[in-house]
Parts: sequence; structure tokens; C-alpha cells
Amino acid sequence: MTNPSLLILPGDGIGPEVMAEVRKIIDWFGTRRGIVFDVTEDLVGGCAYDAHGTPLHDDTMARAQAVDAVLLGAVGGPKYDDLPFAVKPERGLLRLRKEMDLYANLRPAQCFDALADFSSLKKDVVAGLDIMIVRELTSGVYFGEPRGIFTEGNERVGINTQRYTESEIARVARSAFELARRRSNRVCSMEKANVMESGVLWRQVVQEVHDKEYPDVALSHMYADAGAMQLTRWPKQFDVIVTDNLFGDLLSDLAAMLTGSLGMLPSASLGAPMANGRPKALYEPVHGSAPDIAGQGKANPIACILSFAMALRYSFDLGDEAARVERAVETVLAQGLRTADLMGPAGGTPVGTAAMGDAIVAALDASL
Ligand code: IPM
Ligand code: MG
Repeated sequence: MTNPSLLILPGDGIGPEVMAEVRKIIDWFGTRRGIVFDVTEDLVGGCAYDAHGTPLHDDTMARAQAVDAVLLGAVGGPKYDDLPFAVKPERGLLRLRKEMDLYANLRPAQCFDALADFSSLKKDVVAGLDIMIVRELTSGVYFGEPRGIFTEGNERVGINTQRYTESEIARVARSAFELARRRSNRVCSMEKANVMESGVLWRQVVQEVHDKEYPDVALSHMYADAGAMQLTRWPKQFDVIVTDNLFGDLLSDLAAMLTGSLGMLPSASLGAPMANGRPKALYEPVHGSAPDIAGQGKANPIACILSFAMALRYSFDLGDEAARVERAVETVLAQGLRTADLMGPAGGTPVGTAAMGDAIVAALDASL
């Protein structure tokens, strides 16, 4: 049997630093658990632009299509702000999502006990929080045509188009219902059916898929603006939230911050099953490239490490091993280890990126 294959794309900013810690975890699985991955590494984002003049080389795209899972760090940085739109670092990531057809983006927002004090909300509002945002990732206003900056008369017009087909809505709705069945069996769908036709269709299709295929799941609908309000008022009312690409982008940042730090949250972007039965998949932290702290050894590697844990669970059917990584993270947090982003009034032991990674490896050792 061949080893499972992983393509690692550290990207820009803090991406390479946090990914170095993930490599320690991957190596640990090889030496201590006999779970060996064939790992290749490549460029995406600004660093790919620097090397090849494009944020994602065709060879890298082909490699991503061929492996069992892609693990990405982060893309972007101020150095690339003035690049033409078509070669901006973000286009590399968007091309991966689109061409791999990764339509279901799973963004868990979980509040670790040790960090409940750290949220900007009151502790009882967030303690024990465990919700999952399922964001549609390959369509909507991110990709709809027409788009561009045009001239009309004597002024410029910026245009983007929100467009959703029935099948695009139905497939991401199914992902959400399937997940809900393995959790608390509740889905809340969010759109703006009060102002957008695409939202009207979204609501109808989600309801139809529910009634035909998932009548056992409790389904509710909410306007996305009210959803944002409810997420800050009483987030524990939610289990799975399913929403479109743009609302999902906003709501997942909001949900992430409920848990204390963007530095903690992983994500999985899943597509249709490949020939081997595994879903096409890309795993990445929700946080960005954090250029302000890049290269200083300060970044929190936990989101990226937890993204690898999601890969273990969703791509490799190693749910127990994923839980082992998640427990190791809980252990180091309970020990009081804190990267700078987690340094709140409650204090703790300040550690850098590498020390945090080493501590998680030590906690994994202790789990055996
Ligand atoms: C995200 C990011 C991306 C997005 C950017 C980097 C293109 O904000 O993954 O949430 O907008 O989807
Ligand atoms: Mg975002």
C-alpha cells in the first residue's frame, strides 16, 4: 500500500513558521504511530509570484489535484498590495478552491476551556461553545460574472455578481445536514432572502433538500445580519450554520473571535470524492499571513496544527488520531502555555511558535 500523500503550501507571512510546527506533528505520526505521509512542499501566494510571476504555478495546481490532501499556511502581505488583481497572492488560493471544486468549507468555532476568559464576550456566553460554520466556497459573489471595473459615461463602476445555481446550493446544504447528523442534528441556514433573489433561491433549495432527504434534522432559517447579531448575543443556540461564500467569510471571522483568538481555528475545504473515495481536500487555518508579526517566531501554530488534525479526520479516517492532536492542544493550554495572541489579563507562560509546537509534540508523547 502506498503512503497517503500531502502537499504542503506554507505560503507567505507567518505561513512558513506555523507550517514548520505542523511538520513536527507529521513527523511524530511517522516515527511514533507508524502513520507515514509522503510530503511534498511547494509555493503559493506572494512567494510563488516572486519565484514564477504567478501566485500559483500550473505544476503546483496539478500536484494539488493529484495528492490526497493539501495543507496550506497563509497567503498575502503588504508587499503585494499594489499588484494587478489577477496575480495577487489571494488569487492562488482562490484558484485552488475553484479548480479543486472545494465547495464545502468547514470552519469550526470551538472555545477551549482554558481560553474562555480570553474572549471579548462574557465567559458564560462562550464557555463550551462548539459550532460549525459550513461556508459555500466555490461560487457566489467571489466568482460570479460579470465582474470588473468598467467605465460608464464619465465615471467608473465596480461590478461583482452574486450567482448561485440550485445544484451549488443543494450540495453544500447536504454537507451541512450530513455534519449535523454527526453533531447535535441542527442546521441554521443564513442568507438575505429579504433583499436578494439568490437568497430566496438559497432558502427554498435548502428547505427542499431538507424535506426530501434530511427531515430528521432540525432546520431553521435566519437573515445573515440577524445571524451576526445572534452569534454575538447567544452563540450556543447554534450547531451547524450553512451560508454562502461572502456571508460565510464574514460570519466565520466573527465566530472565530468568539473563541478568543483567530490563531486557534482550523478549516477544511472539501469537494467531491476522488477515485479512492477520499474527498478532494484542502486544510488551512482561518487566520491570515499576519505580516506584522511574520518572521519573529511569535505566531500561534495551533490553528495550522488543528487543520492537520482535521485532515486526519476528514481525509484519512483517523478520527481517533485527530482527537489525540486536539487533546494535546488542550493539554498545553491547560498547562498555561500562551503565544502572544493568547496573552490576556489572566496571564500564562509566554512561549514562541517553536516552543508551542514542541510542547504539543511532548503532549502527544505523553498520550501514548
Ligand atoms: C478566508 C480569507 C480569504 C477569503 C482571502 C484570503 C481570499 O479571508 O479564507 O476567509 O476571502 O475567502
Ligand atoms: Mg476570511
